[in-house]
Amino acid sequence: MKTALITGANKGIGFEVCRQLGEKNFHIILTARNKERGLTAVDKLKENDINAEFILMDVSNEESVSNAFNKFKELNLKLDVLINNAGILIDKTSIIEIDTEAFVNTMFTNSVSVFWVIKYFLPLINDKGRIINMSSGLGAFSEMSNYAPSYSVSKAAMNALTKQFSFALESKNIAVNSVSPGWVRTDMGGANASRSVEEGADNAVWLASEADIQLTGKFFRDRKEIEW
Ligand SMILES: NC(=O)c1ccc[n+]([C@@H]2O[C@H](COP(=O)([O-])OP(=O)(O)OC[C@H]3O[C@@H](n4cnc5c(N)ncnc54)[C@H](OP(=O)(O)O)[C@@H]3O)[C@@H](O)[C@H]2O)c1
Repeated sequence: MKTALITGANKGIGFEVCRQLGEKNFHIILTARNKERGLTAVDKLKENDINAEFILMDVSNEESVSNAFNKFKELNLKLDVLINNAGILIDKTSIIEIDTEAFVNTMFTNSVSVFWVIKYFLPLINDKGRIINMSSGLGAFSEMSNYAPSYSVSKAAMNALTKQFSFALESKNIAVNSVSPGWVRTDMGGANASRSVEEGADNAVWLASEADIQLTGKFFRDRKEIEW
């Protein structure tokens, strides 16, 4: 049985990725920053006969990431798939109007977190393991607009981290990729979004379970490579 750890997975796309990978017989490590919400989400997976455990992790806090890694070590497991899914979108204003705290919070939650989570969990990622960063079209230079500027900057930085870790981990046969889920009906995407959570989760699930391990350092949407 393969093991997958997903960050920010108590709801939305992250929870759906857990559900779909669980149905594919993955052992799920569901992480979230809120214990109650995380445990409730794990209970929902267990009701569907999915093998799942909860670990508390606030990805924007290095100590919390370190504590989560220590909890994971106690399980005596290795990781086959790590999915950096946790994210926030809190700015919908011009870059010259956004306040510093919101900008910094966005950068820590959406980008610096990816650096910490990979650095801490890397020693326990298996050869031929996979790291998947849940990015966004808003983080692509080829698609970027002035909607949610700090979110865009943070996802562009996440994409750069994908490239850097893919170079560094090529010799270990660990594939590192970014995915854009499209516009998805979640608390973040809103009710008018064009895609269901099932559709939004598909790309990450495909990369985690089916895609060729040679595919690394790339950006995907709908199982196809897209421009950075
Ligand atoms: N929905 C879209 O249209 C869309 C489009 C492109 C990319 N994405 C990306 O897809 C990912 C999932 O988004 P979603 O639509 O599922 O959003 P969502 O429903 O708002 O879920 C976001 C998740 O991230 C968690 N989170 C936020 N900050 C965290 C932190 N510091 N530590 C740990 N967990 C944290 C949230 O936990 P709480 O419940 O505790 O807040 C929640 O579980 C995000 O990275 C987002 O940027 C979404």
